[in-house]
Amino acid sequence: MASLISHRLPFSPEENALLYAASVLHHHGLGRVAPKTIQRLLADVFDEASPAPALPSPVPEALREVLNAYEIPGSGTPLASRLAGVLRLADAFDQGMEAQPIYGQDPGEIIEGLRDGVEAGLWPEAALNAMVESTRAQAIPPVEAWRVPVFPQAALRILNILRDPRAGAAEVAHAASLDPATAGLVMRLANSALFGPPAPISTLPAAITRLGFAATRKAILSAALSPVFRSPRLETAWPHSLEVADLAEQLAALSGATDPAEAYLAGLLHDVGRIALLPVPLYDWALLQRLERQGCPPVYAENLLLGTDHAAWGAQIAAGWRLPDPLVMALRHHHRPENASHPLVFLLYLAEFLSASEEDLPSIIRLEISLKGLGLAWADVADCRVSPVGCWLAAA
Ligand SMILES: [Fe+2]
Ligand SMILES: [Fe+2]
Repeated sequence: MASLISHRLPFSPEENALLYAASVLHHHGLGRVAPKTIQRLLADVFDEASPAPALPSPVPEALREVLNAYEIPGSGTPLASRLAGVLRLADAFDQGMEAQPIYGQDPGEIIEGLRDGVEAGLWPEAALNAMVESTRAQAIPPVEAWRVPVFPQAALRILNILRDPRAGAAEVAHAASLDPATAGLVMRLANSALFGPPAPISTLPAAITRLGFAATRKAILSAALSPVFRSPRLETAWPHSLEVADLAEQLAALSGATDPAEAYLAGLLHDVGRIALLPVPLYDWALLQRLERQGCPPVYAENLLLGTDHAAWGAQIAAGWRLPDPLVMALRHHHRPENASHPLVFLLYLAEFLSASEEDLPSIIRLEISLKGLGLAWADVADCRVSPVGCWLAAA
């Protein structure tokens, strides 16, 4: 957030670098420690993969001044005080976002609540105005521009067949045969090292017998829905969706809260709202990417820059596809389980959490809401891992 604010203020590159380093280090309480300690910490925090910003010299002293001014509002040089004010404002916004499960405020309401801090001398008015400008929902194109793919017809027919509780091996084989890509994936999985006695299998019924009903169903659903995610900006979303689906299915079986197949489908589609990011203008896309590179979780960045997030867009897309209401709701609230009391929502939140996707700021409150909603304890789920079939599908 600090970098988003500074983007709109007349800071020099050196001042921006100083602010960035101070943002990364400000929780360490370094305002009064020796410059050498700061130097050592800088070396620890920044490495080759994430190089330290080009800081003004002498580095530790300039940084120490900002960190000191952060701890004591109104202290330090005018520059240190200004940068510390931005940092304090960004921090206060973060705290508002973390308290969302309790107070339910959206980013606009949180910012409104921060106006008092200008009067109190905690941060400059220019910084607050820059924050308002940064969080205006102007970058998201209208729904018509999202280029939402039609829901794959093969997937629709397959879903209908698999939803029938009387479906047996013959029906599943029929579902797999409806689409060549789906049949191909089932055959490859059956002949993979995971299931493979060396004798190769060449017919679909034999492949399904070898895989069993559950693994076949997973392969069929994933093959049928993968075309939805075919886009350069979504290349990481699909393997992640397969992992979340796999975990959601396990959690459904563990809790008995809902049908594991429904949970698997919800997991596959949970981040489909990222499609709405495809037509976002290049400038805003680059800004989102920059925030993520600096450690800002994507859901947080979407809310900041676009005023909403992929969970809300996913629900819009799923509703447009006329998918069942519980699934639409699960997509809408999968990062905000406090807003809906439905097992699918809790399953998706937990599956996201267990997949270590780091899509949003971690929240103990949301974790507890989800566990409680499913009648589970952390010890029940702590060892959940993506299954070998899930790993194979994610890598396929
Ligand atoms: Fe996700
Ligand atoms: Fe998500």
